[in-house]
Amino acid sequence: MEIKKAEFVKSSTKESDCPDASIPEYAFVGRSNVGKSSLINMLTSRKKLAKTSARPGKTQLINHFIINDSWYLVDLPGYGWARVSKKSKEDWKQMINDYLKRRKNLINVFVLIDLRHEPQKIDLEFIHWLGEEEIPFCIVFTKADKLGKTQIQSNQTIYKKTLAGSWEELPRMFISSSEQKVGREEILEYLTDLNKQVNWE
Ligand code: GTP
Ligand code: MG
Repeated sequence: MEIKKAEFVKSSTKESDCPDASIPEYAFVGRSNVGKSSLINMLTSRKKLAKTSARPGKTQLINHFIINDSWYLVDLPGYGWARVSKKSKEDWKQMINDYLKRRKNLINVFVLIDLRHEPQKIDLEFIHWLGEEEIPFCIVFTKADKLGKTQIQSNQTIYKKTLAGSWEELPRMFISSSEQKVGREEILEYLTDLNKQVNWE
């Protein structure tokens, strides 16, 4: 797929403020700093479309980007950032979960996971919640450039084994590096397929 056009639409504080739900939508979720905004920039080949930062907690709102005038990519705030109050954490979680549950045109959620670490409770709980809510998702492992090939394989195997403990069927998984543009073609192809499957009025 060629991305001819990628434009920022708006930032929203809640689902009811999001732009018109008349076209398919795909959201990027995951821990703070995992690389959600960077992945959106890598996929769209626009360095500064989504705002990124070395410090966690950069994205704080629901950000819509419209691609080729026909579908949305959504950059969400991260979860699990330690240096915010308990109340803020709860508010953010509420905002993200509420958006994910209510958004009618949401076709798929991309759950981003840093492959350098062992499976983390917070990510597994989030994935479990998506399953309970029957929200379709796939997994994108990020920052692959920080690991060697063997380690990428073995860490992915650990992840698969962990998920196989509670899932009969494993979700689709991608390996990515925004720094080295790894995974771009595969993820765009997947988005193309999903867009084709959607019978959107
Ligand atoms: P929040 O908005 O705070 O939730 O973070 P985010 O998930 O949007 O992460 P962001 O894209 O802002 O990236 C966080 C940091 O990780 C930045 O310093 C990026 O440069 C870095 N980063 C993102 N993707 C990659 C990657 O593929 N490889 C490497 N080495 N660094 C990356
Ligand atoms: Mg971000």
